[in-house]
Amino acid sequence: MTTYCDHAATTPPRPQARAALAAWLDAANASSTHLAGQAARVAVEESREAVATALGCSPHEVVFPSGGTEADNLAVKGITWAARDRSRGVPHVVTTAVEHPAVLDPARWLAERGDATLTVVPPGGDGRVDVEEVLAALRPETALVSVMAANNELGAVNDIPGLAARLAEREVPLHTDAVQAVATLELDVARWGVDALALSAHKFGGPQGVGLAVLRRGLPVVPLAHGGGQDRGVRSGTFAVGLDAACGAALTAAVADRAELRPRLLALTDRLAAAVTALEGGRRSGPSDPSWRLASHVHLLLDGVEATALALELDAAGVAASSGAACGAGAAKSSPVLEACGLQGTPLRLSLGWTSTAAEVDRGIDVLTDLIPRLRASRSAVVR
Ligand SMILES: Cc1ncc(COP(=O)(O)O)c(C=O)c1O
Repeated sequence: MTTYCDHAATTPPRPQARAALAAWLDAANASSTHLAGQAARVAVEESREAVATALGCSPHEVVFPSGGTEADNLAVKGITWAARDRSRGVPHVVTTAVEHPAVLDPARWLAERGDATLTVVPPGGDGRVDVEEVLAALRPETALVSVMAANNELGAVNDIPGLAARLAEREVPLHTDAVQAVATLELDVARWGVDALALSAHKFGGPQGVGLAVLRRGLPVVPLAHGGGQDRGVRSGTFAVGLDAACGAALTAAVADRAELRPRLLALTDRLAAAVTALEGGRRSGPSDPSWRLASHVHLLLDGVEATALALELDAAGVAASSGAACGAGAAKSSPVLEACGLQGTPLRLSLGWTSTAAEVDRGIDVLTDLIPRLRASRSAVVR
């Protein structure tokens, strides 16, 4: 039996998503004019409407990219390029050192090729980004600010509505990567006041390979892919009918569950954290105030425990967890997020989700409370 504590990497698909995917697996091309094509198109558009209802935006603002990475790239590159085309100068981009590579890498790439200048704002020690520091980085030519809603490693939540309000006064567009936030945080695009937002379906109970980009109506965005002009020309390519339908079904289910899920997960993650921090050498990282912490995430730093041994032993004991972020090559390497926060120790991220149960958490606690002291003891035996 696996104790699955890696929902931040991927959360299991919800039954509604499985059903929608199965129903539209053999869909016709949604751009075809025949009846089967029109039926497929209706499925895509109904899903888009469901997404818009769930997120508090207009269906015209919703695009279905291949996931969070493409949604982030579309916002970062597309908005910056559109600004460059308008001004004929070099636009300035502001982002943060705790962003996922899906934001940080395209931002750096733009800067390396001279398409933008870049300011990367450092986080506080808890992984949160200070609104005033972001505002202090603005220049007259700033064309985009990209700040994540919640960090994938630490679960630190940023004040996106507060930042959006201040940026609106200066007419600077704000993109937020809300990939980790949407499953447990109240998210309303209109109330948040953001101009662009990225989501990934496999983080909220949809299938892998589809995501959501919300782009405020009228916001100029240069597309990444040119072709058939689907998705209002912002994202060319044959509609992935089954994936798009499953994405909307999963988001609707996730949003319906959210108010109940959050307190349930907060209690479970606090129990996990309490058990590990009671052990010698175990510390919890991220914000201490639970209102700035994702209910789904526990990030721990373990002193005197070797990272590779921890990963291997957890796996052997049937606990699926992450000793950093799981999006890279899977190799244990130091985390730029932890470095930016000035944090040291062997990281362990335990992330829960909609299928998590108290029994599963209890089993995880049993494994960890046995394993961590053993690993510390064997490490100190070797050091001596
Ligand atoms: C915060 C964040 N942004 C973007 C992504 C990338 O999403 P996807 O896997 O759908 O490309 C991830 C994935 O882990 C993430 O955690």
